Amino acid sequence: MQDSHAWSGRFSEPVSELVKHYTASIGFDYRLAEVDIEGSLAHAAMLNRSGVLSDADLEAIRRGMAEIRDDLRAGKLEWSVDLEDVHMNIERRLTDRIGDAGKRLHTGRSRNDQVATDIRLWLRGEIDATVHLLSELQRSLLDLAETHADTVMPGFTHLQVAQPVTFGHHLLAYVEMLARDAERMQDCRKRVNRLPLGAAALAGTTYPIDRHYTAELLGFDDVCHNSLDAVSDRDFAIEFTAAASLVMLHLSRLSEELILWMSPRVGFIDIADRFCTGSSIMPQKKNPDVPELVRGKSGRVVGHLIALITLMKAQPLAYNKDNQEDKEPLFDTVDTLQTTLRIYADMMRGVTVKPEAMRAAVLQGFATATDLADYLVKKGLPFRDSHEVVALAVRHAERQGVDLADLPLAALQGFSALIAEDVYTVLTPEGSLAQRDHVGGTAPSQVKAQIARHRGRLA
Ligand code: ARG
Repeated sequence: MQDSHAWSGRFSEPVSELVKHYTASIGFDYRLAEVDIEGSLAHAAMLNRSGVLSDADLEAIRRGMAEIRDDLRAGKLEWSVDLEDVHMNIERRLTDRIGDAGKRLHTGRSRNDQVATDIRLWLRGEIDATVHLLSELQRSLLDLAETHADTVMPGFTHLQVAQPVTFGHHLLAYVEMLARDAERMQDCRKRVNRLPLGAAALAGTTYPIDRHYTAELLGFDDVCHNSLDAVSDRDFAIEFTAAASLVMLHLSRLSEELILWMSPRVGFIDIADRFCTGSSIMPQKKNPDVPELVRGKSGRVVGHLIALITLMKAQPLAYNKDNQEDKEPLFDTVDTLQTTLRIYADMMRGVTVKPEAMRAAVLQGFATATDLADYLVKKGLPFRDSHEVVALAVRHAERQGVDLADLPLAALQGFSALIAEDVYTVLTPEGSLAQRDHVGGTAPSQVKAQIARHRGRLA
């Protein structure tokens, strides 16, 4: 037998099969079942406390919902597309079990405030899980950064060798990004964690409800203060997806670097085999599939952000069916983001660094040219003049096919009489690093201090 709709009384014919499937959301919103039950139990407790629902009815609802929850967790709950969405499926299963008490549950609420509540409850939990995963990835990066707090590598601008940095310092840049990402998630959570329930369909309800009590039961920090806004806006979902997009964006940048570094032409790192695949035709290949996929999946999450923004744009107040389309982008954003974070934390533990290759690249790129310029400035030469002197020295070294540090003192003095024997302490990569000894600089001691700061923050 077909399950008839809760609203079928007004209609003279059923919707066509095609329309039924087109409008149903049970195919994806079943994921809200746990929070839907949680929200209903709080709503029922509030109605009972306000004298709208009898003790016996509340008791029956609790018993029925407990059974439904057991069935759900055991994978035994059957979803019916005739019942359109998760809310009506659960309500009908409840009524099947407990009769009229189940039909009284929907007093003083609507699916409009119910679904808005469900999404917020669900998203709140996923934000917490995401923040945890962000911490795990940061820890994994910190471990690698600690091992390589002194490892010299070229720092790049325009992808050209610029100045020496340490590999640890480079990794800490990503820890900073992820730390901001976690802050954004926490901040977004504040606006997610407000209760729409009580807004009913759009205008509030005639029953003597106590929204603050429901909010307290569900762990919301506050209630939404306008019923029209409460049921209709999905800005909190957009905010979350924007924050998620930034995480993916950051990881796409790191992915791009891992791919470059693993390329045999660069050869700075290797990634453990379990994150790579071979080629079906070229036996020699080892491809960095995971970073490449992360780079690709960042587009997918940004796509969801655009979908949600476009969904919301120009929607008149209050609830419109458009909003049903909020779920799939949101669900997939959470799934993609969380799996990516999980796999990334593990992958960073599978990165092997090749310090000799990094050091060789620094020595090939005149990475300490700025250090020579700074050296001359400290001896009294104006910076613009010293820039010119060093440019000439670099041209000379390039012609000779050697690094600045390999030029004999006499040759260097040919460019400026201010140059003395002590110049060699700044011309080596290690000398260059050691001099950048201030907060945020790449000196190994500063890198270690930042690692300690981050560890304290994450503890
Ligand atoms: N399945 C709907 C959604 O996801 C629930 C709210 C439906 N409300 C309505 N008036 N059609 O948004």
